[in-house]
Amino acid sequence: TITDLEAREILDSRGNPTVEVDCTLACGIMARAAVPSGASTGAREAVELRDGDAKRFGGKGVRKAVAHINDTIAPDLITIDAREQAAIDETLIAMDGTDNKAVLGANAMLGVSLAVARAAAMASDLPLYRYLGGPGATRLPVPHMNILNGGVHAHWQGADFQEFMIAPYGASSLREAVEWGAEVYHALLGLLEKKGLSVGIGDEGGFAPHVKSNEEPLELIVQAIARAGLRPGTDVGIAIDPASSEFFEDEGFYNLRTENRRLEAGEMVDYYERLVDAYPIALLEDGMAEEDWPGWKRLNHALGDTIELVGDDVFCTNPAIIAKGIEQDIANAVLIKLNQIGTLTETIAATRLAMHHGWGAFVSHRSGETVDSFIADLTVALDTGHLKTGAPARGERVEKYNQLMRIEEALGTAARFAGKSAYVRPVR
Ligand code: PGA
Ligand code: ZN
Repeated sequence: TITDLEAREILDSRGNPTVEVDCTLACGIMARAAVPSGASTGAREAVELRDGDAKRFGGKGVRKAVAHINDTIAPDLITIDAREQAAIDETLIAMDGTDNKAVLGANAMLGVSLAVARAAAMASDLPLYRYLGGPGATRLPVPHMNILNGGVHAHWQGADFQEFMIAPYGASSLREAVEWGAEVYHALLGLLEKKGLSVGIGDEGGFAPHVKSNEEPLELIVQAIARAGLRPGTDVGIAIDPASSEFFEDEGFYNLRTENRRLEAGEMVDYYERLVDAYPIALLEDGMAEEDWPGWKRLNHALGDTIELVGDDVFCTNPAIIAKGIEQDIANAVLIKLNQIGTLTETIAATRLAMHHGWGAFVSHRSGETVDSFIADLTVALDTGHLKTGAPARGERVEKYNQLMRIEEALGTAARFAGKSAYVRPVR
């Protein structure tokens, strides 16, 4: 039984305020959860409530969201059994009363939703992945490590494309995949130094060099994989998230500033086809902009049978929008971000909906993170086979990979690594 919910304002990895919640149960158990925050957000994400008081954190304070938890949500949830996750999330949704969680704030609601789940797992004497996923939750995901950052995560100092990730899918275990990922990261560091390129990093811990094109990072990464003694495409593949909504302009053009080129949707699709031909790319996220559904259809027509095409900004982890995307056949996978939708129950529903239709579900961190590793357990619980949670560096990123190594260790001989079966389209 929940006896107390206490929220506070803490800092995220970018130095912005975010919400942390402590959930206390009658048995004395206390569980804590913290809420992440995006920078390249989708327009239809649930509302992240910010104070708007310019005198504090440039308006980014979360005292209102914290007050909503302490003064409004807590009194309503006290005496409820923490294992009643669906009922608790439904109560939060009803209390808020809006479609986009604008009243209580999705940051307030998610903090409560996750703290309650973690408390219930502890009270049940189960690790979180087992509590959420049952005894069948034994598959470890392929970690997608973002080792080269661009776009808004690098303040437009580097590539237009936001994320260049490595996927060590040829490893035989999660631990080996993490090891390979770290080795490639360090090989890339050496390569950048040798080439006289900047080794400063972006928001997700990847390097953010001043490249001249969006293809150059792919070339660098292939070289880094080889430098680490691994085989590009066989041992380690590549995934990219251009986050193209960020460089899509009102007139319908994709503006590649590093290359001084503005592309129409069809030309953008051709661009991706060429990259997929030339590099071992297994997954492409947000290739087209969230408002460009015709562009998405073209992309899916061109590449949907070849690689995994993940929709992030276009779906916002929202089951209603995902259902429309499935019906209109615009992609073959969804990105899963807890704070885009705002409760654990809805996040699970979004994941199940996608997987039930044979789509992939790619679990994700946000560019603004904390050391909370909830998504590591969630990925194993939902058996999604893959996740992305930044570079194999920086505390808030590695904590998720470290938690996955702990889970693999705890599972012992029952543990399986998703490997090349992680994707909805077979690795070529
Ligand atoms: P965000 O970026 O957390 O800044 O939204 C992540 C992504 O686009 O996948
Ligand atoms: Zn994205």
